[in-house]
Amino acid sequence: MTNMNQTVARETADQATPVVAVEASKPAHGSVEEGKTVGKPFSDKAKFKLRDVEVFYGENRAIKNISLDIARNEVIAFIGPSGCGKSTFLRCLNRMNDSIDSCRVTGSLMLDDIDIYDPKRDVVELRARVGMVFQKPNPFPKSIYENVAYGPRIHGLANRKADLDEIVENSLRKAGLWDEVKDRLDATATGMSGGQQQRLCIARAIAVSPEVVLMDEPCSALDPIATAKVEELIAELSESYTIVIVTHSMQQAARVSHRTAYFHLGNLVEVNETSKVFTSPEHELTESYITGRFG
Ligand SMILES: Nc1ncnc2c1ncn2[C@@H]1O[C@H](COP(=O)(O)OP(=O)(O)O)[C@@H](O)[C@H]1O
Ligand SMILES: [Mg+2]
Repeated sequence: MTNMNQTVARETADQATPVVAVEASKPAHGSVEEGKTVGKPFSDKAKFKLRDVEVFYGENRAIKNISLDIARNEVIAFIGPSGCGKSTFLRCLNRMNDSIDSCRVTGSLMLDDIDIYDPKRDVVELRARVGMVFQKPNPFPKSIYENVAYGPRIHGLANRKADLDEIVENSLRKAGLWDEVKDRLDATATGMSGGQQQRLCIARAIAVSPEVVLMDEPCSALDPIATAKVEELIAELSESYTIVIVTHSMQQAARVSHRTAYFHLGNLVEVNETSKVFTSPEHELTESYITGRFG
């Protein structure tokens, strides 16, 4: 990204948490020692305990010996240059990589006290606990109601129509969408605006009462107003869920997350409180990235 400095300057003008540009004239420097993450990658309130995680696509090692805790009820942002492994690592958390034939995951990945990669693990049940929202809103070509009711129905969370109605309403309320759609629950979801579709996908993810919601660049297809709504929603959801968000927008990471994890070429370089990462990063590579020397 050659115009990152410009972008940072423009986007910081109207936001509360400034992304500080430390002297932007130095060239990118610093190197990373594999398996060594600076800052605070561990937590005493771990929801996920991830140790020595490596991910391979065939021969290509896309994630290199990463250890990280993700804390209960935190919002943690994954940032770093394109191709550094953010999505790959995120997808390990609910075994979304299983669908990629060449992909192999090693190391220890625990969710509370369960081993995510236990071959006997029921992946459908795992994904009910660890839901996912994708970059491009992907509602089913069905009604708004059916999009939200689908998960609770297949997981047997509601026996009676009235219970299902209640879950649908609560999920849409939590996703900040109820008032906009309550009079047209039978309308087809694909006719909604992009921002509404993404909030519907969030409603669909939370309808099965997950403990964790993974979001992979959830706003990159949205306009600024829809983005602001989703960011507001993330703040509210963090009271009930653990949220892991991949974002290419440092401003977004600064606005929504408690901790930020900086990835570089498959390594986890630094994890710290978000305010620290954006004002006084510990690692030179993090500093180079946030000041726009590369991206
Ligand atoms: N489905 C896939 N098959 C093979 N290689 C992949 C696949 N997805 C990602 N990779 C490779 O893994 C590395 C990390 O990619 P990715 O996790 O998508 O990075 P990011 O999300 O940070 O942009 C890249 O080298 C990419 O080419
Ligand atoms: Mg990605």
